[in-house]
Amino acid sequence: MIEIVAGGAAAEGAADALIVGSLQGRAFDPVGEWAAGALGDWLGGYLDDADFQGKPGQVVSVPGGDLPYRTVVFVGMGESPDAEDVRQAAGLGARAVTRAASVATSLHGAGADGAARAVAEGFLLGQYRFDRHRSEPKPALTETLTLLGAGDGDVEAARLGALVAEGVAMARDLVNESAMYKPPVEMARIATEMAEAAGMRIEVWDEGRIEAEGLGGLRGVSLGAANPPRLVQIWHEPEDARGFLAIVGKGIVFDSGGLSIKPAASMETMKTDMAGAAAVFGAMRVIAGLGLPVKVLGITPLTENMTGGAAQRPGDVLTARNGKTIEVLNTDAEGRLVLADGLSLAVEQGPDMILDLATLTGACMIALGDKIAGLFGTADATEAVQRAAEAAGERVWQMPLPADYRKKIDSDVADMKNTGPRYGGAINAALLLQEFVGDVPWAHLDIAGPARASDAEHYVQKGGTGFGVRTIVALASAIAEGRAGTASGNAAD
Ligand code: BES
Ligand code: MN
Ligand code: ZN
Repeated sequence: MIEIVAGGAAAEGAADALIVGSLQGRAFDPVGEWAAGALGDWLGGYLDDADFQGKPGQVVSVPGGDLPYRTVVFVGMGESPDAEDVRQAAGLGARAVTRAASVATSLHGAGADGAARAVAEGFLLGQYRFDRHRSEPKPALTETLTLLGAGDGDVEAARLGALVAEGVAMARDLVNESAMYKPPVEMARIATEMAEAAGMRIEVWDEGRIEAEGLGGLRGVSLGAANPPRLVQIWHEPEDARGFLAIVGKGIVFDSGGLSIKPAASMETMKTDMAGAAAVFGAMRVIAGLGLPVKVLGITPLTENMTGGAAQRPGDVLTARNGKTIEVLNTDAEGRLVLADGLSLAVEQGPDMILDLATLTGACMIALGDKIAGLFGTADATEAVQRAAEAAGERVWQMPLPADYRKKIDSDVADMKNTGPRYGGAINAALLLQEFVGDVPWAHLDIAGPARASDAEHYVQKGGTGFGVRTIVALASAIAEGRAGTASGNAAD
């Protein structure tokens, strides 16, 4: 794990690489001014040649020459950077120096609120990689990150950022892992290891218990799979809890579509279909690590969606945990079936707010593309989630839950059916989820798009992104600080 330390003046320090930020128009901070001056007059022309103006996404590396830094990296931060700009700049810089054992930076001095924490998050996530299955040993990554001229508060904040980045990395690892190495039993084992290390209570239900407890949605989806399902519940229960948040994550470790089978190309990335569960595990780890004074319950229904001889059939009717029945017309609309049980279980435990995260619909990607999550739910909860996402630097967009669309999921034989018309597919799915949240303030994030990145960009690597971890942590923090805005979230005030 990387060590984050405070350093003094740039001229007195030394490291393999130095990362400095540049505002648009090439305005450097004092460390950047010093570096530019010490490098020499050629730098201006060099940056001209590279068309470096200090815009977000721009990065130029130069040899450090006589400086006590072998490499100097200039990264663009734009006009007036906020924490997310700093996070992205740090990620970009981190990617330019992955083999440098020691790196110094002044990015935390960018003047943005939360900059020091963002530097650590961006730097660590920028150097994230998944190479568990490569035969060559991993080349080493940066071991020490020095924040030049930082105070204790900056270092403290950066270490919190590192904790958050570890949670995001855990989620990325789980998503990037192939389905053959993460059957529900293994996912539950990893969750147990994490929860025990973090001092949280965890309960894992096996297939027998899942059936006995009436989790008909999860059971139905699991019937076609050789690997048995699991239902994981994790509790972070500090004595000084202010408010109670439940988070539910879709945990389809592989989605073949079931008998309503997907075309081959659509299956290629379906190991990603447990990204909601991964975000729940990663976030719970951070929340416990931070010791946030808020009760948090994490629920993850875990199963494969496969086509075995015992698989559920289109036309089958399932009874969810809360007694409501669902006609399964398309076995590929399985996420809502397992979430029905997860949400019902959450409601039973009396949380002030429920947030679910699910790679739920391709329709949401059609609507918002692959970088923005769809946000649905009741006004109190969605406002809190919107603010949390904004603070965390994750992109969400509010979508409607029109009551008159509910009839589109009316079933001829059951309380509802699991598909609706193709148009508004993300809404139809969210309307089904709404049947299982009772009166609890509830928000649903459809993360089908942002759970996975098709290309590397700033602190995002190609593959699993860990999307949602930072928003959950920010939401839990807001509740802990009485800022979440729901009446019940402030009940302890
Ligand atoms: N896991 C998929 C949604 C998905 C698609 C996530 C692409 C990420 C990328 C989900 O289980 C699914 O298959 N949804 C169907 C629903 C339809 C059958 C009503 C979809 O979106 O096509
Ligand atoms: Mn599906
Ligand atoms: Zn799915």
